[in-house]
Amino acid sequence: MPKPRKQILVCVNERPETSPKPSCARRGSYEVYRRFKDVVRARGLRDGVMVTKTGCLKHCSRGITVCIWPDAFWYGGVTLDDVEEIVDRSLARDEEVARLRMPDIPWE
Ligand code: FES
Repeated sequence: MPKPRKQILVCVNERPETSPKPSCARRGSYEVYRRFKDVVRARGLRDGVMVTKTGCLKHCSRGITVCIWPDAFWYGGVTLDDVEEIVDRSLARDEEVARLRMPDIPWE
């Protein structure tokens, strides 16, 4: 694989059911991660885009949290339905999807 031009970070941190703090895996982030992989492959972007599972990205209350590097586009509340738009705009055209922009909240 060539050096990637972009990286999609998807939080898959999972806390116990009893935790008072939410976590992205409990909101379905593994499915979002797999959808990113599928869409990147389907768009023929695999040589330039790496999709990576991460631990907590410190915006738990707004998860599912996704970040695009090197652009530092931070997205909150990402669902399966948002994945194609993120790939088509943020990866293919370097645009931020403003409606998903993470609010400027303190890191958790
Ligand atoms: S658990 Fe996903 S941002 Fe913290």
